[in-house]
Amino acid sequence: MDKFLIKGGKTLRGTVAISGAKNSALPVMAAALLTAEPVTLHNIPKVRDLITMSKLLAFMDAKVSVTEVPASDYVIEAPSLNHAEAPYELVKTMRASILTLGPLMARVGVARVSLPGGCAIGARPVDLHLKALEQMGAEIITSHGYIEARAPKGGRLKGAHIVFEKITVTGTENILMAAALAEGETVLEHAAREPEVTDLIVMLRKMGAQISGDGSSTLRIRGVQRLGGTEHTVIPDRIEAGTFLVAGAITGGDLTITHCEPEHLGAVIAKLGQAGVPIETVNKTTLRVRGAKKLVGSDMTTEEYPGFATDMQAQFMALATQAEGTSAITEKIFENRYLHASEMMRMGANISVEGRRAVVHGPTQLSGTTVQASDLRASAGLVLAGLVAGGETTIERVYHIDRGYEGIVEKLRGVGADIERVHGSGS
Ligand code: EPZ
Repeated sequence: MDKFLIKGGKTLRGTVAISGAKNSALPVMAAALLTAEPVTLHNIPKVRDLITMSKLLAFMDAKVSVTEVPASDYVIEAPSLNHAEAPYELVKTMRASILTLGPLMARVGVARVSLPGGCAIGARPVDLHLKALEQMGAEIITSHGYIEARAPKGGRLKGAHIVFEKITVTGTENILMAAALAEGETVLEHAAREPEVTDLIVMLRKMGAQISGDGSSTLRIRGVQRLGGTEHTVIPDRIEAGTFLVAGAITGGDLTITHCEPEHLGAVIAKLGQAGVPIETVNKTTLRVRGAKKLVGSDMTTEEYPGFATDMQAQFMALATQAEGTSAITEKIFENRYLHASEMMRMGANISVEGRRAVVHGPTQLSGTTVQASDLRASAGLVLAGLVAGGETTIERVYHIDRGYEGIVEKLRGVGADIERVHGSGS
């Protein structure tokens, strides 16, 4: 298993280019299953989850061509899908495999997808995806750990009026894809408004889908008979950009973040401002962060977009350990997303966690030790903590971070961090 070794205390300076959004690339790759024609995708980040998604599509008989592996340009062609199945072996390494359920149901009318199960951050059920598909006429049984779904007679789902009980990102994406080829109109209320959902809508529309309401919580999808091929460039990764903004802030550095979408970072920029960190919008795709004169504690609650993203909570907690005063963090999206807190405490942070609330008292001088990454964003939080800790921090289980951050070691080294990857054997 690979590890990261970080010698803390370096001030980060320079320019970092942001990669494509993992959480946009995943649904748009799955959407390629909706058509027999080729779909060309650009700006796919070179991260492990996208390689897993390629394997999954290939398992279903789609042809995934990449110029090199890993690469940022993919051509996906699915003239026929002989294997409408997402097997446990792939789903267990990536929950987002559930994103193939909607496209399979729409294209071939049957699907067998392994139940994703829980993960380190919570139980993460997919009941809302299934309930919505049932409203569209699908017959669904779950047995032996698999979801087995079948469209009504005739093989085509039917449009429905669906009101999600809870806002769900991949649930919204799955139903958008299912409804794009369904018979009649689907109205989706209480839908997710994340930029990644909008990116998927933009691509589906280029394929011929009839969707309105992007960016709002009510989406209307008029099903069409067929969708065609297209070419699409995925949006920049707002969580990677936010992570580097915090890296600049926490090290008191001066970082220019290019190839990003400042509009998607409103809540993060506002929170950093409250913490005393000025963020300058240099142009439409570039931000600059300079260290605060004094970092101050501020409260934060995670929410659905456009609120503060749960995927930035661990990074913000690392920053809070260096801020003067108390920062109260409330995690509203996932019930168990504080595993990084106990690792930060082992580094000397003063944090107390009670249920969904964590209170951080700062500033504290962190000291390097060996810590374990528990999920993708927790790993990012620990890397940030390591950047300011005294001495050496070893982060174990960095396969979590490799799932979603392209070249994080190289990007951090490029702006002056002392971080290296140590290759280990075994998994
Ligand atoms: C997406 O996960 C992201 N993944 C997550 O990114 C992100 O943290 C999350 O949205 C929230 O923003 C992808 O886009 C691939 P949800 P998703 O369904 O869609 C509950 C990362 O680090 N819920 O919006 O799985 C659920 O348990 C990750 O990149 C149900 O109860 O999240 C949670 O409490 C991790 N039943 C809440 O809703 C359902 O059927 C929101 O989850 C579905 C969800």
